[in-house]
Amino acid sequence: MKNRTIKIFSDIEKLANHSVGFLKKRINEDFSNSGFSIALSGGSTPKKIYKYIADNLYDELDWRKIKLFFGDERCVPSNDEQSNYKMVSDTLLNSINIPRENIFKIDGENRPEDEAKRYSAVLAKELPLNNGIPQFDIVLLGIGEDGHIASIFPDQIEKFNSKNICEFAVHPSTGQNRITITGEVINNAKLVVFIVTGENKSHIVSELLSGNPFTKYYPASLVGPNEGELIWMLDTHSAQLLDSEIKQAATIL
Ligand code: 6PG
Repeated sequence: MKNRTIKIFSDIEKLANHSVGFLKKRINEDFSNSGFSIALSGGSTPKKIYKYIADNLYDELDWRKIKLFFGDERCVPSNDEQSNYKMVSDTLLNSINIPRENIFKIDGENRPEDEAKRYSAVLAKELPLNNGIPQFDIVLLGIGEDGHIASIFPDQIEKFNSKNICEFAVHPSTGQNRITITGEVINNAKLVVFIVTGENKSHIVSELLSGNPFTKYYPASLVGPNEGELIWMLDTHSAQLLDSEIKQAATIL
């Protein structure tokens, strides 16, 4: 991993503005002509960020140059309140001028085993390969209070090291089927960004960044881009339990 950066924001607006500015710079530096690829995170954390971007920064980015994918999806219809695709559509996609062909959704209605294979083939086709593995420009990840990322849960942590590009998983408490990209793809990205906000995440953030040996049981602890960068984007609430030396090394915005 080239380097790990920690950024702590006083509010979501600052985090969103900083993210778009950062994205704009990265896209302008991208001369690949294959489109700037982002794997979006689901869950509730990014909702406000996507919405803020749609409402205030939608014209800051040339969406024609961006290809949007999903890091994971719940196996539900795309109009279901649980669907990450629905969440991203409602907060972002329906408000920005992005060509529909630049959006690559996971089909939550497909048979999970089949969809894991299908989406693996989509990523292999649409993304450049690095060491034979699809390479995202950016992978956005939230972190669960149990240390899960995307839909790789502690009780199925072996899926992180699957040789498959995508796997299907089962949510440990709801039993909901999920489709997820695996660590093979995550750690092959040029940049992985953890977006973690809220006091309820302060414990898991502090444990993961402290590097305690037991954190190896958390899928989030396995995230470390092989050649790329890792950025933690936190707010003051999720960062509140970090020890002082980590906070001093962080960028406060
Ligand atoms: C999902 C996400 C998942 C999420 C974490 C954090 O489909 O739910 O991909 O990995 O990022 O569970 O969720 P919150 O942002 O809701 O806390």
